[in-house]
This record gives sequence, C-alpha cells and structure tokens, in this order.
Amino acid sequence: MHHFHYIKNELYCEEVPVEEIVRTVGTPVYLYSCATLKRHFRAFDSAFDGMKHLTCFSMKSNSNLAILKLFASEGGGVDIVSGGELYRALKAGVEPAKIVFSGVGKQVEALEYALESDILMFNVESPQEILKLDEVAKRTGKKARIAVRVNPDVDPKTHPYISTGLKENKFGIDINDAPKQYTLAAGLKNIDVTGVSCHIGSQLTQSSPFVDALSKMKGLIRILEETGIRIRYLDLGGGLGITYDSEEPPHPNEYAGAIKKELGSADLTLILEPGRVITGNAGILVTRVIYTKTTREKAFFIVDAAMNDLIRPSLYNSYHAVEPVRKSGRGTVTADMVGPICESGDFLAKEREMDAFEPGDLAAIMSAGAYGFTMSSNYNSRPRACEVMVNKDRFYTIRARETFEDLIKGEMIPEFLNV
Ligand code: LLP
Repeated sequence: MHHFHYIKNELYCEEVPVEEIVRTVGTPVYLYSCATLKRHFRAFDSAFDGMKHLTCFSMKSNSNLAILKLFASEGGGVDIVSGGELYRALKAGVEPAKIVFSGVGKQVEALEYALESDILMFNVESPQEILKLDEVAKRTGKKARIAVRVNPDVDPKTHPYISTGLKENKFGIDINDAPKQYTLAAGLKNIDVTGVSCHIGSQLTQSSPFVDALSKMKGLIRILEETGIRIRYLDLGGGLGITYDSEEPPHPNEYAGAIKKELGSADLTLILEPGRVITGNAGILVTRVIYTKTTREKAFFIVDAAMNDLIRPSLYNSYHAVEPVRKSGRGTVTADMVGPICESGDFLAKEREMDAFEPGDLAAIMSAGAYGFTMSSNYNSRPRACEVMVNKDRFYTIRARETFEDLIKGEMIPEFLNV
C-alpha cells in the first residue's frame, strides 16, 4: 500500500491531485509521498526492534537532501559510496556516527574527507585499500574503523547487473581469503577492526540468500574471534526487493524475522543498508504525452520523459507500470511508451497494454522513487526533471527543474577558439 491512489478517476499523491502539481511545476516531474517514505522507513527499521541495529539508508537509490533529512530525523544513518554522497549526507544533517562507506574504488580525497568527518565505518574491499586507508589515517592523525566487505558467494537470483555477491563479481574480498586480510588489518596501527560486511545484490525477492550469506558471515566471525579479533558490527548490506509488477518479495517483518533467527543471540550491532525497499514505491515519474504515432508495426506514445530521466527500462529491461493520471475511459491499447531521445533504446514501457493516451494526457510511471532521479543524466542536453515532495495536502519542490544555463555550467571556450 502506498499513497498514490485514484479519487473519481483522478490520480492523487496523498491529498493532492497530481494534475494540480503538474500545473505548477510542469513535466517531467518526480513526485514523492512523504507519508509513504516515512511508513517504509519505519516498517523496515521497526522490524529489527528488539536487537541492536542501525538502518543506514542506501542513498544511491535517492539522494535528494529533503529525503535524507526525513530519514535522518527518523533516526536513520546512510550508506555512502563517494565523497559526493558524504557531502550530501552531512548537508542533510545525518550524524557521522551513523555513516558507513562502501565501494570498490574509494579515492584518497574521499578517504580523507570521511576520516575527518569521523564516520562510523569503512567497508573495505581490497588489500590495497586497507593499506591506503592506514596511510591516510596516519597522515590525518585519525584511526579508521573498518569492516572487510566479504564476498560470500551466494546467488541472489536477481538480474546479473545487480548481483554483487558472486565469486565472479568485482565486489568485496573472497570470504575464504578474509581471515588473512583481517590479520593484516589488525596489525596496522591506524586501523581499528570493528566489523564484517557484505552486500549480495539488489531486488531480491526471497529471504534465503540473505540467510545463507549471514550464516557464512557468522562462520567468519567465529574464525576471527578464535584469532583474538573482536567483531562488534555485522553489516548485511541492502537488497530487499519490491513489487514492480507481480513480484512477491518478503515483507520487512518476514525478512527481519529470518535474519534474527539465523543471528541468534550474537552480541553484535546489525547494520542494514536498504535503498529500493524504502524509496522505490514512494515515488513516481509523471510525464506528458507529446504525440501518438502508429506505424505498420506498432503503436507509440511519445512522451516528454526519456531514458535520461529514468534509465532502468533501457538498461535492465525493467518493468515500471504505466498508469493514466486521469482515467480516460477510452479503453486500452498495446503500445510502446518512448521518449524523445535519439536512441531506439529510449523507452519507458514496451509492448504494454495501457490506457489509450492522446496528446496532452499525463501518464505516471510507477515505482520510480529508487534509482530514478539518481541515475538521470543530461543526455541530448535535456535539463533534468524537478523533484516534488507531497506532505498531506501540500506539495514542495525539493529540486528545481534544471535550466539551459545549468546545462552549460562550468563549460568554457578556450581563448584560442575566440580569435
Ligand atoms: N549497499 C550496497 C553496498 C549497495 O551496493 C547497494 C546497491 C545497496 C546497499 C542498496 O541496495 P538496495 O536495497 O537498493 O537493493 N541501479 C540498480 C540497482 C543497483 C544497486 C547497487 N547497489 C537498479 O536500478 O535496479
């Protein structure tokens, strides 16, 4: 259940008609429901009540300051993967003691910035990174708390582009090689070994791969404790899936229940890095139909949102439901919904039965709150969409639509071309 619903054939976000928002801000626009965001955060976080835990929202799924601020005020932390994400998180008021830093290629500047900010923990992903972090920590006079991100080699049974915990993936350190790396790290003066971490993939629709990964992590913790390395944090990553179409992922309570059962009474703080499950179904992308076109082969709805706004269909062939903002009663047709970009891969829906839209109609691309705006670009020199948050009967622009000036910000014509 989320707060996008129809009243008399008209789509609302909470108590505001979507058409009313579009009249003010135009299209394409990302719309987020504050009530849904809050409810999803609370449902996830409270599922782990009764055990020491920290929910570190994975901000790569949605990094708007207003959204980060909302979760920070709910007591959440964040999972970051770059200096830029750290900057956003701090600007939004996330406590540094609730920030974990993952990623295979953390740059020296980002390591320095995170050390100076005194974040909770670095999830290190290679032996070279451990040594680099020790060196940077020494230089900045800080001690770096780390977890080794291990690759537990479990199959998350999801799209290959978003599987991360298989032997052949670039992420983490093979779980069998981890003890050696822990011994190395424990011997370094500026490193404080505090945790173990993993992240096995995204859009998982079963609990069992998480439980398998956790069981392997527990085995690793036992080995480490035998060698005198005490682990205080267990970071299980993110990855819980959502319903885009007919998927039936476990409810957070079921997922948390399976994890709690496997973890038993271990004296650890559990860290979770959910992204999609919190923001995915809390946002939609609203677009306007520019033209309709019927070729000998197909029917097309050409809309003003494109792959630069939402790349998931093009990149992963992902399904996003398409709903009319006003039900027309004209019946349905099977068509492709495509954008204005000069690529055949520029589609939002393919061979889909949908409302028989006409030029000027508004369509809602559902489940677009995660990996929507954050993966958007300026391809074809298209200004990026604006973002709006709805709270009950009011709406707020939380990111202005980009202008043409924004498109050329920072570009310069060298002197020699001006003669
Ligand atoms: N933690 C780490 C270390 C991650 O790499 C990710 C996602 C997450 C947490 C959050 O995963 P989530 O709970 O959202 O599944 N662009 C793709 C998804 C890529 C996910 C990358 N890592 C998509 O649009 O489906």
